[in-house]
Amino acid sequence: MAEGVTAQNEPRIAKPPATLLVIFGASGDLTSRKLIPALCNLAEDQYLPENFIVIGSSRSKLSDDDFRAKVFEGVQKFSRRPISPAVWERFSKNLHYQPCNGEVLADFELLKQRMESLCASSEQRFNYVYYLAMAPQFFGPIASNLREVGLIEEYSSTGRRTSVVVEKPFGHDTQSARELNECLRKSLAEEQIYRIDHYLGKETVQNILVFRFANGIFEPLWNRKYIDHIQISVCEDIGIGNRAAYFDQNGIVRDIVQNHVLQMLSLLCIEPPISLSDAKSIRDEKAKVLRSIKRMTPVEVRENTVRAQYARGSVSGQPVVSYLEEKGVNPGSTTDTYVALKLEVDNWRWSGVPIYIRAGKRLAKRITEIKVFFNRAPDSLFKGRQVGELEHNVLSIQVQPKEGMSLRISSKQPGPRFKVRPVEMDFTYDNSFGVASPEAYERLLLDVMKGDPTLFTRNDEIEESWDLLAPIFEVWSSKDAPPVLSYEAGSWGPQAADDLLRKNGHSWSSL
Ligand code: BG6
Repeated sequence: MAEGVTAQNEPRIAKPPATLLVIFGASGDLTSRKLIPALCNLAEDQYLPENFIVIGSSRSKLSDDDFRAKVFEGVQKFSRRPISPAVWERFSKNLHYQPCNGEVLADFELLKQRMESLCASSEQRFNYVYYLAMAPQFFGPIASNLREVGLIEEYSSTGRRTSVVVEKPFGHDTQSARELNECLRKSLAEEQIYRIDHYLGKETVQNILVFRFANGIFEPLWNRKYIDHIQISVCEDIGIGNRAAYFDQNGIVRDIVQNHVLQMLSLLCIEPPISLSDAKSIRDEKAKVLRSIKRMTPVEVRENTVRAQYARGSVSGQPVVSYLEEKGVNPGSTTDTYVALKLEVDNWRWSGVPIYIRAGKRLAKRITEIKVFFNRAPDSLFKGRQVGELEHNVLSIQVQPKEGMSLRISSKQPGPRFKVRPVEMDFTYDNSFGVASPEAYERLLLDVMKGDPTLFTRNDEIEESWDLLAPIFEVWSSKDAPPVLSYEAGSWGPQAADDLLRKNGHSWSSL
């Protein structure tokens, strides 16, 4: 039996209050792949509110039964575990469908009638959650139509909490993110907006705060005096699938770095917040980190960034096409599918500590990992006993797929000679907790229903993260922009990314 706690012996958490969730974009991929499977898993664990209604909505004309059948396929295919027939039966009874064109006010009147009639069977007052699983150009019109028909209410006057969840991409650059924020704020208060970044719902990402602040040994070392550098890698072996229309307009920096990577980085580098149960204090600290990241000069952009696109190659032994050969990619596209960056959080704690980031599609394998390299011990005591320098102690946070942490330390190799060798002390979630981690969307949906915004991104965080990337986009889109390099699919990226670290005396850690 694994050590530690299991889901069975944990105290039950309080269920959220009565909630009506409307998913706009319900005929899309996200609903079938992530949202409904996540809700079913919450149902399986009995975490959903006692009174819970879901309305799927999109332009397609579907009946309730059509919608149920469609999403059931998704549940069977994508749920992290089988959902029992009894749970599905109970859950699906409260699953409905209402067609709605986000730009047609009359459709919102019909939606309102449907919501009211579904809620009428209960005496409870339902909180409303609107999930906008669709492109950002629809956020503004939907929010404004919801308000127009009276479906967005102020908590102070009605006691009903109304929340709107928006998916990424949240803007394309600083200006568009600001405009999107302004557009939403015409219909909603900031505290009603939940900008989702699913990385924040991952157990391993939430654990960054716990291991930093629940262990006395790390915090005293967590600064420029003891840390040599940090590496954050988000590597994927998949290509762009059927998402060319979205990806070709965005590229890997907008797809992964602006959100997931910078969110992990900010948790890794924040000062202790006033309280871990106070969303504002955590978000304040994260925003400070993003504000402290040094904005690069044009010369620094050339020195500290590498972008590339995958060429043909093979992944897991299968030949794969180049990015330019993917269906729907513009011929001659210069969109980045790989990026390596050197960033610096220029504040009292971190100044001078390089933070290297790499993210890419079609790399050798799927792995997301953070590695913190501590300063080497002086090797004076070991001179003549071994070749080369002592190794760095490295703390690895394995975000996925194998969730866990490890610490590399130097140890004496058994035997008559005094030989030093690095070894790993590690823990995996599997071994220690014996239960599979929930999907990120499970935690995040539950938090919205409870009205807890801690794991969602605030407007200033979004704007800061776009702002710090702006100098990079500017140089990359200039007339004499550095070239978009090429790398073989199935490799670890272009040589230039290795050179970026080498010129700073470092090298990418193998994954
Ligand atoms: C999404 C990106 O936000 O994250 C995708 O749009 C990427 O391109 C995905 O594949 C990665 O998520 P995860 O949870 O599989 O690491």
